[in-house]
Amino acid sequence: MPSARLLPGAPVAEAVLADVAERVTRLRARGVTPSLATILVGDDDASAGYIRIKQRQAADLGFESPHEHLPADATQKDLEAVIAGFNDDPAVHGVLIQYPIPGHLDYDAALQTLDPDMDVDGMHPLNMGRLALGMPGPLPCTPAGIEALLAHYEIPVAGREVVILGRGATLGRPLSMLLAQKRPTANAAVTVVHTGVKDWARYTQRAEILIAAAGVPGIIQPEHVKPGATVIGAGVRYEGRRLLPDVDESCAEVAGAITPRVGGVGPTTVAMLFRNAVQAAERATA
Ligand SMILES: NC(=O)c1ccc[n+]([C@@H]2O[C@H](COP(=O)([O-])OP(=O)(O)OC[C@H]3O[C@@H](n4cnc5c(N)ncnc54)[C@H](OP(=O)(O)O)[C@@H]3O)[C@@H](O)[C@H]2O)c1
Repeated sequence: MPSARLLPGAPVAEAVLADVAERVTRLRARGVTPSLATILVGDDDASAGYIRIKQRQAADLGFESPHEHLPADATQKDLEAVIAGFNDDPAVHGVLIQYPIPGHLDYDAALQTLDPDMDVDGMHPLNMGRLALGMPGPLPCTPAGIEALLAHYEIPVAGREVVILGRGATLGRPLSMLLAQKRPTANAAVTVVHTGVKDWARYTQRAEILIAAAGVPGIIQPEHVKPGATVIGAGVRYEGRRLLPDVDESCAEVAGAITPRVGGVGPTTVAMLFRNAVQAAERATA
């Protein structure tokens, strides 16, 4: 019988988006229409669907969202020309390049041509550098969403032992920097484990907060969890449309609090995208 308290992401996202909507209203009241541009390359159905959802949400929140759809055979030059156009458009405040892009294109190279202040994903190398240095800037969405989720459910992080399984560039690494920062909702003792730490269970078993960020289905089992710990499942793998999470559902029998199998970290990631976008509009028009 699962005993852990569930930590769904939807209420967290709702609270973040309510704040974003208020900030959009304030911007509009002083004549600024916040604008989040989107770029889609190719005809992947799932990516097109994600873009549509984000555009609808952008409209609901009061953003404009100009969109560029490039064909699957677009060149790197084509993609970078679209990015440059948005960089130079004073009416655009944030830009989202839907990932993945077709394999013949270099996503990292394209991202580096984006104005870092317009990078709503918070993944531009300059923004990673800002994060490492504790300078203000757009934060990577999934790590920021996890911090918001812990804060929303009043799970204390400061001074506690956080163990992250995975040091990937999109999740584990930036999350470790974020949760070690000197702020009331962070300030943790953070340990990062990975394939180089063969006995990583030794670390996860003592974690007060365990965050799975590996992308290996079922890698976290009850024996890896300290009884009563908070478990955040962020790593997932997709097999077709099937979502396979890192955290086995049976961990709910040991954990004190746990994200649900579906609808945990995901909704908070999207909310953070809009938080970055409204922040970009505020900064650009301050
Ligand atoms: N929920 C969301 O919104 C969201 C957003 C972003 C990412 N994600 C998910 O988060 C996961 C991580 O993303 P990422 O881009 O950071 O991935 P990544 O770059 O592939 O990193 C995976 C990390 O997990 C570690 N790892 C893999 N297998 C392991 C094992 N058997 N034992 C110990 N460590 C292992 C790897 O160790 P090494 O470094 O030693 O190889 C690596 O550090 C993915 O599943 C991704 O889908 C979710």
